[in-house]
Formats: sequence, structure tokens, C-alpha cells
Amino acid sequence: MDLKIQSFEEYQSKYKQSVEKPEEFWGDIAESFFWRKKWDKVLDYNFQEPNINWFVGGKLNITENALDRHLPERGNKLALIWEPNDPKERFIRWTYRELYEKVNQFANALKAQGIGKGDRVAIYMPMIPELTVAVLACARIGAVHSVVFAGFSAHALADRINDAQCKMVITADGLNRGAKQIPLKRVVNEAAEHCDCIEKIIVYDRLGWAPQMKEGRDVWWHDAIEGMSKECEAEVMDSEDMLFILYTSGSTGKPKGVVHTCGGYMVYTSYSFQNVFQVGESDVYWCTADVGWITGHSYIVYGPLISGATTMMFEGVPTYPDAGRFWQVCDKHGVNQFYTAPTAIRSLMSFGEDHVLSYSLDSLKVLGSVGEPINEEAWRWYHIHVGKERCPVVDTWWQTETGGIMISGLGAHSPQKPAHAGYPLPGIQPVLLNQEGEEIQENEVEGYLAVKYPWPSMLRTTYGDHERCRVTYFSHYDGYYFTGDGAKRDENGMYRIIGRVDDVINVSGHRFGTAEIENAINMNDHVVESAVVGYPHPVKGQGIYAYVICETLPETEEQEDILRAEIVETVVEEIGKIAKPEKIQFVPGLPKTRSGKIMRRILRKVAEGEPDKLGDTSTLLDPTVVETIVATAL
Ligand code: WTA
Repeated sequence: MDLKIQSFEEYQSKYKQSVEKPEEFWGDIAESFFWRKKWDKVLDYNFQEPNINWFVGGKLNITENALDRHLPERGNKLALIWEPNDPKERFIRWTYRELYEKVNQFANALKAQGIGKGDRVAIYMPMIPELTVAVLACARIGAVHSVVFAGFSAHALADRINDAQCKMVITADGLNRGAKQIPLKRVVNEAAEHCDCIEKIIVYDRLGWAPQMKEGRDVWWHDAIEGMSKECEAEVMDSEDMLFILYTSGSTGKPKGVVHTCGGYMVYTSYSFQNVFQVGESDVYWCTADVGWITGHSYIVYGPLISGATTMMFEGVPTYPDAGRFWQVCDKHGVNQFYTAPTAIRSLMSFGEDHVLSYSLDSLKVLGSVGEPINEEAWRWYHIHVGKERCPVVDTWWQTETGGIMISGLGAHSPQKPAHAGYPLPGIQPVLLNQEGEEIQENEVEGYLAVKYPWPSMLRTTYGDHERCRVTYFSHYDGYYFTGDGAKRDENGMYRIIGRVDDVINVSGHRFGTAEIENAINMNDHVVESAVVGYPHPVKGQGIYAYVICETLPETEEQEDILRAEIVETVVEEIGKIAKPEKIQFVPGLPKTRSGKIMRRILRKVAEGEPDKLGDTSTLLDPTVVETIVATAL
């Protein structure tokens, strides 16, 4: 069970072994899990189609690994701690046995509501323990979960439900977020009007509200589990059966459903969790992400539970009731490993040090960062004020598509360098490619980040559209998985991620395609055309800057403000509050090449406040457009 590397020397030798004999390496690791039937072959793949199969012929159920196998020795150990939004509300602690029973009971409820192996189930829930129960209950019976972050709008939810043809939605009446309460069931009702595939909706009563329930379709969670047994036979899954779909944005308009499968995902999330965070048997581990994102899937639910760790879930936000909440919660529950995002750190930094200095934070051992490059200033603040210069900071680079952490320190066992993710985990073979797609072998270089050998938790396809998976990730550079990120490698071979090289904007660690936001803006009746770029934002990492052409250019500032508010409203309706453009500039035209392509490079420079660095504009159809854009830049 214990897969932890204990020193940098061990890391180096494991790394070497993993490259020389990858199948042996992964086979050994996979041995420590519980398989109903052992695999016939560790790996079978090609990156051309792509067709990737790990632990071929193996049979398992991931929940037997996350729950059942812990019962003999860890039945009374805490599996899950839940800290509510309101510090005055009681927290929840469930042992592995309790979690096991709740998952099994809800799995039986799902079956009774007509869900079976292979059915897709959308989960649109608050950060409450029942969210983890819902996810695992799906996995127990072989249903495919598609968790949608509960900040997405009804439109965005409906798109995802339709794309995966979900038969069921699991939701709650509403959720708490800081001082606000948000009605989830109302959003689901609105989405359901556009989704013929939905047969049932299960609703958890979180707020004691009375949302509109549709007779015959909608069931309360507490009614659904009433009388259900707490034992549910686990569905035996093939290693390559689908475990879940998670939608993420790319450079084209429509978010794609990244597909992960059972065997490889199980092995890699647990292996990477143990090594990166170095969690001990009696430790309390806390990841502040939402289960609606991959970080929550892999490092709140699956990785920790498969490893038999105690994982904490937090319902609230870092600044409620004040900017000391994270630290108060760390002290309250004796958190040992703490994993959060740079945007949260930067936001808390802006409230000053007093909030963090009033807590002891003695229990902390390892700090983690994820979602975007962490700038040096934030890294130092985290290291000095939170970690008291005692805790290593693991800067973990990975993606929805990679399923698990790829490049990162391993607890205290790796050299650290601010803003550097560092070295790849054993088993991961990253490369930097030049413009021609050739591998750059030297150090002190920069290039496109790609991976040249498969790893167990990599995406297998994009749901319902395999060609899109091939084109997006495997066609740019033949024989490589392309990440969409640019990176540097320093003189010691440590990686530093620079950021996206495609049309993806990373706002507070959340990914949006520029085309996706443009599509949303264009839904507004006044808008003729728009172009969206990212610009550096002090807290969010990147902010959304939109250039908008309207039918009639607003004349007064007041008119501009009204129109801006309307456009923001449209984006909120189409995607959700998280995709709100920060800046909207009204322009008479966009800089286009003679073939009609928008030159984003120019728009980016203007948004970054560097209009003197536009470069060559001679190929533009109408260079005067740029002058106007620069003159009216925000
Ligand atoms: C970025 C989140 C720098 C990167 C797990 C990647 C990072 C995208 C880091 C994936 C990091 C994530 N340093 N950049 N430690 N972690 N990224 O799919 O651009 O939401 O491609 O997965 O976030 O975002 P996603």
C-alpha cells in the first residue's frame, strides 16, 4: 500500500527505472491495489489514433480500493472531515466504515432509481460530504459521473448534460458560499427544460428550502435512501471502462468531456498523492479545491481515499467570515498537508499578514500549490507566513487531461525553487519541443511542453468525439501528447511552467477558451463581433479582456456602462459568474489579417498595457483600427 519514495536519491533511481523499464515499474505499483482479476498486459498503446490501454484485461472496482479494503485495519479511522461554510455550524467526521455505508446505501438508491453500469449521471452539488458519496456511489455501480462545478449557469449545465446524455442529475436545494446562498435546484430546473435525456433528479436538502419538485421526476435524497441496504455489491469493471467525464475548456468554442478510465486513474491518483504530499497514517490532509474540478476529483476524493488517508472538504470560501478562515480551519482540525491555489494565496496576501499570524499553524508539514504558475512573491509569502519556512512547498503542475500531478516536488524529498514545479514524477516523461517539433535536449531552454510516453491516468478520449481528442492533443507533434503549455528548463533540469500557448485563459485557476467567451458575448443582441484575450491580473493570474464591436457604438460613458452590464449579464447566463469579463472595450473594428483572421497578438499587447510593443502591423487589412484601439484602451 505504501508507495512513498523516501529520499531524493531514491527518486533518482526510481525515475531511471521508470524510463528504462516502464511496464515493470507500473506493474509493481499496480500490484499494491485490489484487483478482482489481474491484468494480462501492463500497457498497450499508440499515440496516433490515439488508443491507450493500461492494465489490459484487469478487473476492479475503484471503490473497493477506496473503501472496502480499508475496513479491516482502518474501519474506525477518519476518512472524511467536513468543515461547513459557517464556522458556528457543526463539522462532520466520518470513519471509513461510515463512509462505506453511506456510499453503499446511496449506490442502492441509484440502482432503485434506474441507474446502472455505463449510465451517465450529472452531479451539480455544493461542497458537502454527500457530493463525495454521490461520486463514489456512481463508481460503485459502474455509472459514469460527470461533475459540473456548481457555479456554472443553467445553459452551461444543460450543454454538459446533453453532451453526455445524462439520465440523472444529483443536486441540492441550494448552497452556501460565504455570506451568500445560491439556489441550485432552480438552476437545474431551468437546465432540465432543455434536456430531454433526464429521467430523474435527486435533490439533497442542504438549506431546508422548498424548491419546485416535479412529480415523478424529482426525488429527495433522504427519500431515495430510505430503507436502502448499506451493503451494495461493487460492479466489476474492466480496467479501461469509463470512470468519469469532466468537461474542460479548450481553444475551440465548446467545452470537451475529458474521459478517464478505472484502472489507470486509480493507480496514478493514489501513487501521485502519496508521493507528492507524503501523507502519514495519522495525518489530516486538506485540499481546498472544489470537487467540480479535476483537483477535487483526484486529490479530495480518489487519491486520498484510495490511499486510506483522512481527507478534508471545506464548504466555504477563504475570506468568510474573514481572511483568516483557512488558517483557523488548519488549527481547528490539525491539518498536516494543505493544498491550495495561487489565486487564493494572492487574495489572502492582500488582506495583510495579521490574519495568518494569529494562528499557530504548528501542525502543517507540506504545502501545495496548483492551477497556475505561482509567482515568486506569492510563493515566498506562502513559504514564510504559512509554512514558517519549515514546510516544503510542492508546486504541482498537471491538467484535467493528465488526471494526476505530473511535475512536482515530493514533500521534503526534492530540491525547491520558487516558481518552479521542479522534476517529473517517476513514470512521467516530459519534453520541451521547438517550433519544428524537435526535442530540445539541453538545459536552460524554453519550449512547448509535451509528454513522450503514456502514464496510467492520461485521458483516453473526449466524450463522443474521439477525433477531437486526437486533433487537440496528439496531432500537433507526432508521437507526443501536447499539453498546450510552454515551459522552461533551468540549468539543473527543473521545470518552470510559463503558461498556455494556445487560446486558453486561466482565470483564478479556471480554464476558459477565448472562443467560448466570445460565443457567449456574441449572444448579446447588441454585439456584432468580439475578441477576447487574457491580461495579467494581480489576484486572478489572468483577467478576461473583451474587445467588442456593437451595432451602434455607445456615445456616452453612461451608455457604455449600461451596455457593459448587459454583456456581463449575457456571459453570466451563458457560462456563469466565473467567466465575467473584467474589462470590456468598445471598438469600431478588430485588427484582422487580409484573410480575415483576428490578430490576437496585437490585442494581447494592448490589454497588457504594452501598446508600444505591437510588432509588425503591416499585414493588417486596416492598420488604423489599431490606432483607435490603442487610443481607447482601458
Ligand atoms: C495550468 C488543473 C503552472 C497549466 C490541475 C495547465 C499550472 C492548466 C500549474 C490545467 C502549476 C496547472 N504551474 N501552471 N503548478 N497547475 N497549471 O485542467 O496551464 O484546470 O495546462 O487542471 O493549468 O488546468 P486544469
